[in-house]
Amino acid sequence: MTYNLEKSNMVYNPPKNVTVYDTTLRDGEQTPGVTITPDEKRLIAQKLDNLGVDIIELGFPAASYGEQELFKKIKEENLNAEISGLSRALKNDIDKAIETDIEYIHVFIGTSPLHRKYKLKMNKSEIIQRAVDSVEYIKDHGIKTEFSAEDATRTEFEYLLEVCKSVQEVKVDKINIPDTVGISIPRQINQIITDLKKEITVPLSIHCHNDLGLAVANSLAAVEAGANQIQCTVNGLGERAGNASLEESVMALKTAYNINTSIDTRQIYNISESISRITGIKMPPNKAIIGENAFAHEAGIHVQGILENSNTYEAISPEVVGHKRRIVLGKLTGKSAIQSKLDEYNIKLTSKQFKQLYTQIKEMGDHGKTITDLDFRALSENIQGKPKKERIKLVGVSVMTGNNTLPTASVSLKIDDKIKEGAKTGVGPIDAALNAIRDIVKELIDINLDEYHIEAVTGGTNALGEVFVVTSDEKHNKATGRSTSSDIVMASIDAVLNSINKLLMIN
Ligand code: KIV
Ligand code: ZN
Repeated sequence: MTYNLEKSNMVYNPPKNVTVYDTTLRDGEQTPGVTITPDEKRLIAQKLDNLGVDIIELGFPAASYGEQELFKKIKEENLNAEISGLSRALKNDIDKAIETDIEYIHVFIGTSPLHRKYKLKMNKSEIIQRAVDSVEYIKDHGIKTEFSAEDATRTEFEYLLEVCKSVQEVKVDKINIPDTVGISIPRQINQIITDLKKEITVPLSIHCHNDLGLAVANSLAAVEAGANQIQCTVNGLGERAGNASLEESVMALKTAYNINTSIDTRQIYNISESISRITGIKMPPNKAIIGENAFAHEAGIHVQGILENSNTYEAISPEVVGHKRRIVLGKLTGKSAIQSKLDEYNIKLTSKQFKQLYTQIKEMGDHGKTITDLDFRALSENIQGKPKKERIKLVGVSVMTGNNTLPTASVSLKIDDKIKEGAKTGVGPIDAALNAIRDIVKELIDINLDEYHIEAVTGGTNALGEVFVVTSDEKHNKATGRSTSSDIVMASIDAVLNSINKLLMIN
């Protein structure tokens, strides 16, 4: 801790507008297990630009030939956002960035005792000299320069101030304060920015990591003290536990502080999904703003309130971030939720049928069963006595597996009135069979297997296995499927066909 926090009072002096510096394509790419190809970076950069971010940190030009080429080519996109590249305070790195004809360089050097001693093996004045030389060199090339004092929050304040004053003297455009290891608390960040602002007149930026889950809170505390910019990433991607998430920071600025950013918030959900798909990093359902449950309501009392006036149980409306409200069915479901779903799907039930549906939903909830909207429709239609609409039926299946054979399945399906056949391999016979089914039905519907669970219901080698699946289509409609058999391949096929038939009800 570089501050005596007992004496500190949080300062509240926020700017009217906050600049959004997006580093999804640089710090976000440092998320363990994530690499983003140059083509994907171009695509994401376009989306970030449409979203309205002010600055896109596209990468690290000195990292590879591919990165350098990307910086050169990105100009063809004519983006509105400024394109920034990260660079160590090293002439070689900076030159690699300059070669790309870059317009904005984010240059950094570690300033904390740990970085000075163990990483850089440089003393305080050598580091200041390197920082100053780097900023001057970049500015001499007519390039906008943002300087970061890496590990700023663990740097002695007097020294941090000296570093900042030195780069300010050589006309740096902006100074960024990184909480590199995410160790700070809001009060400390607020104090650092407040004290820096007494002597630093260039715009100040904040870059927080989420190691203590405080990245957004810390970024907001910096803004409260007068920071002009937040560095953040979509979905909070980033090194280790990630960075401050763009969506949470922007929505908090908008709703809690009434502070403007350039972000078109209606695009937030969409870009979050795209980035999740491209990076393979799925968001937990309870993630604020963009999680699948962020606007989902199950408890009867809540749903009743929501149906009267959504403000009763929502901090913001889902449309504001391009998301959707969901009424979830389960054991806590009340009658008003069921009625609202029946109205939504224009299904009319008698009061006896309604009671039956209500009881079935409660029973399924009690057994921990998921009930998607399509399950609800299938249940209701079943209660109405409507015949099951099964467009796909299994005609035949044969699987081959063994220690010298690649597991292969041949499947024959009757789709409407036509027989369709296909064969596929897989990691095992079930995978092969499900691959074959997906392939056969792909002209009709593109299926994703979201969940697959198998459980032995009885013991012994002839045990009954219960398979439960959740599949979804391209529009994210979800349907469950369930089947029990002593042959787990057959149970799996049956469960998947069951769920696909539900999805086909609306496709
Ligand atoms: O976390 C950090 O310190 C960084 C710097 C390069 C700004 O990402
Ligand atoms: Zn970082």
